[in-house]
Amino acid sequence: MRAALIRDAALVTDHLTAVLGAYPSGPITDAMRYATRGGKRIRAHLVLEGARMLGVAEAAALWPAGAIEAMHAYSLVHDDLPAMDDDALRRGQPTVHVAWNEAIAILTGDALQALAFEMAADPRSGAGDVRADLALGLARAAGGRGMVLGQARDIAAESAPAPLTLDEITALQAGKTGALIEWAATAGAIMARADPAPLTAYARALGLAFQIQDDVIDVTGDAAAAGKAVGKDAAAGKATFVSLLGLEGARARAHTLVDSACDALSCYGARGDGLRDLARFVISRES
Ligand code: IPE
Ligand code: IPE
Ligand code: MG
Ligand code: MG
Ligand code: MG
Repeated sequence: MRAALIRDAALVTDHLTAVLGAYPSGPITDAMRYATRGGKRIRAHLVLEGARMLGVAEAAALWPAGAIEAMHAYSLVHDDLPAMDDDALRRGQPTVHVAWNEAIAILTGDALQALAFEMAADPRSGAGDVRADLALGLARAAGGRGMVLGQARDIAAESAPAPLTLDEITALQAGKTGALIEWAATAGAIMARADPAPLTAYARALGLAFQIQDDVIDVTGDAAAAGKAVGKDAAAGKATFVSLLGLEGARARAHTLVDSACDALSCYGARGDGLRDLARFVISRES
């Protein structure tokens, strides 16, 4: 599993490097390169593995794989801003607003979001209707009913008068983290014109398990291994599964969610093993 993830990470990194090679030199291009470097590339791996499972050519799938990592990188650059989580370390390096400044970080996030659509809609990713569906789905996943809505709820929860309920936290996390993961997991089905329903079910469970592990790492991890500050969520008043269920309760829930994610792939038989391995990795990771 780790080998497959590392191989796909290298593929998508080379692809992003090639695409950004055509950008003009300057601080925004430099910061776009910087912000898209590193990372586990779990979302790109979801795209590429789902595409492989459904017989889509890797060269075509690299476009949506790069797109989702560009979108994710934008979300992290903005998530780290002083007005959001105010973090100075990301992927083991100074965050973009620390390495440059806030204006550059805001604009770099903006440019990375546009790059995501540029890549999802690239003619080399498939026929026009497929590209339109990829871009439409990405817009829905990233915007005011997806990731941005989840991020807004995450920030609002810091000053909410009462703790959020389990349903409210689930909805928050499904937007903030789940929406981009769902798009990544279903991109291969969109490209293959296959039924995305089993992958949607897989991704919904996986996305929640993924965010639970991120919240667990904030409590139990260390900054050197995680490549980002830890121990901040409780102090900031973040609404997480750990804050509601406690560490052991959250871990147990993540395990149940990974079991249901794997079960959702039953129709693919052994072809789904790569995605099953990824789901197990997501809750065992320490970064
Ligand atoms: C971190 O995502 C942000 C969340 C959505 C919780 P990742 O843990 O996938 O970050 P990278 O891409 O590997 O740095
Ligand atoms: C970030 O969630 C989610 C998005 C960027 C959309 P977190 O704030 O928990 O991520 P980390 O812990 O900073 O990586
Ligand atoms: Mg955040
Ligand atoms: Mg954060
Ligand atoms: Mg976190």
